[in-house]
Amino acid sequence: MKIPLFKTHFTDSCRLRILSDMETILGSGHLMMGPYKDQFEQLFSETLRVPHAVSVNSCTTALTICLKYYDVADFDVLVPSGSFITSISSILFAGGRPVLVDMNPETLSFDLDDLERKRTPRTKGIIWVHLTGFITPEYEKIVDYSKVNDLFLVEDAAQALGAKVDGLCAGSIGDAGCFSFYPTKIITTGTGGMITTKDEGLRNYARKMRLFGKDLGTNEVVDLGNDWFLDEIRACIGYHQLSELSENISRRREIAQKYAGLLKTKMGMNLLNVPKENNPSYYQFPIFLDRAIDTQGLIEKLKNEYGIESKVIYLPCHKEKVFRKYDDGTLSRTEESDREIEYVVDSLTREIEYLI
Ligand SMILES: Cc1ncc(COP(=O)(O)O)c(C=O)c1O
Repeated sequence: MKIPLFKTHFTDSCRLRILSDMETILGSGHLMMGPYKDQFEQLFSETLRVPHAVSVNSCTTALTICLKYYDVADFDVLVPSGSFITSISSILFAGGRPVLVDMNPETLSFDLDDLERKRTPRTKGIIWVHLTGFITPEYEKIVDYSKVNDLFLVEDAAQALGAKVDGLCAGSIGDAGCFSFYPTKIITTGTGGMITTKDEGLRNYARKMRLFGKDLGTNEVVDLGNDWFLDEIRACIGYHQLSELSENISRRREIAQKYAGLLKTKMGMNLLNVPKENNPSYYQFPIFLDRAIDTQGLIEKLKNEYGIESKVIYLPCHKEKVFRKYDDGTLSRTEESDREIEYVVDSLTREIEYLI
C-alpha cells in the first residue's frame, strides 16, 4: 500500500462544474477581475461570516499586503517560530522585523509567557498561526492581549479554512485572516490566497495593491503594488471547491476521529487535545512522539517498509539557514514540539491491516 503525504481530490460534481465553467471563461476571453472572482469572494465572506474577502495570488501575498497596511516598516512583529517560512518572510517583505516567539506544544500556538517577554515599545502586531488547522483553546487570551496592548492581530489561517472555535471561524477572529490555496491545502487553486477582514480600509487597500497599486476610482497608480490578483480560472476552481467545504471538512473529521480512536491508547505518542467546541480543519493530524523516539529514523522506516509518507511538520524557522540570525536562544519549546510531531506511525498500519 502507498499512502502519500497529501492527495488533491476533486469530487466528480466539482470537476464537472469546473470544466463546464472553463468553457465559459475561455469563450469570454475575460481572464481577470471578472465574475468568478466576485462569486468566490462573496461565498468566502458568507461562509466565514466576515464582512470582506479579497482574493490574491497566495497566502504569502495576503500576509504581505496586511503587514504593509499596518505599516510595520522598522517595527517588530511577533510571530511563532514553528510555522511555515513565509509567516516570517512576509514581515521582511513589508520592511518589518520578525521577533520569534516560542511555542506551547500543547496548543501548537504561542507560549503566552514568551509572547509577553518578547513585546517591546517597537512591537506593532502579531501574526497568529493556526498550525495544522487547530485554533488554540487560548484564543481569547490572544485576542484580549492584542487589544489591551494595541497590537494588530493577523491570523495566518493558511491551514485553517473551515476550522472553528466556539462557533467562530478561523479568519474572522483577529483584525484580518490570510488563507492559502496551495496544492496541499484544504481547497486549492494551484496557487492562490484570500484576505478576510471586517476593516473596510484594509479591504480597499488590498484591492488596490493586488492591481499594481492603482486607485480603483481614478485608475492612477498611487502605491507600489503588483499583479497579485487571482485570475478567473483559479477563482472558478476555488469557488466550486468552496461550495463543497462542509463535506470536505466532515470527511477530514471522520478520518481524524478514526485515527484518534486507533492511536489514543498506543504507547510512545500523544495526540492533540481537542476540546468539545473546537473543530479543527484537520489540515494535518499531528502526533507528538516521546522524546526517546528517533523521529527521522521512524519517518524513513514508515516510507521504506510501509509505503507511508510522513514528515516533521516544520523545521523550527530559526533553524532555517536564512533565519538563523533571529534565534536568540529562547525558542527551546518550539524545537521540542516540532521534533515530536509527525503523521502516521507503523503501529497504525498494523492496526488498519488487522481491521480490514
Ligand atoms: C502556515 C502557512 N502560512 C503561509 C503559507 C504560505 O502559503 P502560500 O504558499 O499560499 O503563499 C503556508 C503554506 O504552506 C502555510 O502553511
